[in-house]
Amino acid sequence: MPEDGLIRDIAARAKEAYKIIREYAHKTPLKLSTTFSRLAGGTVYLKYENLQKTGAFKVRGALYKVYKIKDEYPGVVAASAGNHAQGVAYAARIFGLKAVIVMPETAPISKIEATRGYGAEVVLAGRVFDETLNVAMRIAEERGYALIHAFNDPDIIAGQGTIAFELMENLDSFDQVVVPIGGGGLISGIASVLKTYRPYTDIIGVEPAACPKTLESLKAGRPVRIEPKATIADGLVVKQPGDLTFKIIRETVSGIVTVEEDEIAHAIYLLLERGKVLAEGAGAVSLAALIHGKVEARNRTSIAIISGGNIDLTHIYKIILRGLTREGRLARISGYVPDAPGQLSRILTIIAGRRGNIIGIQHDRIDPRLPAWHAKVTITFEAPGEEKIKEIISALKSEGYDFWLELESS
Ligand SMILES: Cc1ncc(COP(=O)(O)O)c(C=O)c1O
Repeated sequence: MPEDGLIRDIAARAKEAYKIIREYAHKTPLKLSTTFSRLAGGTVYLKYENLQKTGAFKVRGALYKVYKIKDEYPGVVAASAGNHAQGVAYAARIFGLKAVIVMPETAPISKIEATRGYGAEVVLAGRVFDETLNVAMRIAEERGYALIHAFNDPDIIAGQGTIAFELMENLDSFDQVVVPIGGGGLISGIASVLKTYRPYTDIIGVEPAACPKTLESLKAGRPVRIEPKATIADGLVVKQPGDLTFKIIRETVSGIVTVEEDEIAHAIYLLLERGKVLAEGAGAVSLAALIHGKVEARNRTSIAIISGGNIDLTHIYKIILRGLTREGRLARISGYVPDAPGQLSRILTIIAGRRGNIIGIQHDRIDPRLPAWHAKVTITFEAPGEEKIKEIISALKSEGYDFWLELESS
């Protein structure tokens, strides 16, 4: 194996990193989930890195990297609007270095504030990431600070690999670990350690279908640049894998699968609803792959890395509404109703009688396409499940009201 030396080197660094970061990072829980085991059809454990300091695993790599350079540089610079920003800011504060985090001008205010909260100076520059990175490079040069790459650095990769030591400490045997891939630092670290200490473990990578850069690069045999589409897993949006991470992934990873936006949203919803756990999109793709049959879970013990929980609050209600609709707990129906007194109240009684709880009603008399002397009524209601929604529609039909479902559950 040509990369054997590289992989062993990363594993050795990860062992050292594990001793160093212990004091400053949490050992996060690894828990068996009966609900997700049932949904995946095998034994599923979740590794809760969303409960890590700063809300994501990124702090592991940042701590180790900053520790290693702390005596050479007075400060550090990073270009990131995501978890790397907070990880580097946190690590710099721990080791007493200055931190400058360069974020794109469009960075959400919540991320800016969180990063400032760890004592970093935040500079807003650039609309696309390449511009932001250029500014970060310039600041690093002007001030003599170290630029900390988010993934393509052996110490960052080794720091992320410390997760694997915790997995081995907590569980004597497991068959596969399912890991989100952005630039590939997380999976490269975990894979280097596991391939060194437990070589028969399968490492499976997961990317959003909107950004399959590693999958495309493996097909091409070299790191290739893609144009990502919008995804809720924003932490995984990288145009091209690093050369270092690509080398490690090519040698260690058993397979890469992709997940759709709906599947990611569903996994976030289920983690909230069943697990009472908040994951961000990037953090939920591993579970999405297991419960949507992208990764074979039968007769196997799988670990899904829930890599982060820093989701923008404005996304959560949309995910909840989508999830409720999908599960038949929220429905929107429409029908043409004779425009006469008492009709609406009859309809609402039929719905309420079957435990439908009305959230909203729209009543339209103006649309010229309406049948004569009718109004279009659209009703949104909470329902106890898909069966009840069907029952409500057929009860309305038998009373002479022709309603149809506007929002399909699945
Ligand atoms: C929550 C979360 N998960 C996964 C990743 C992917 O990590 P990597 O870029 O090391 O592949 C990121 C990257 O920012 C992230 O923030």
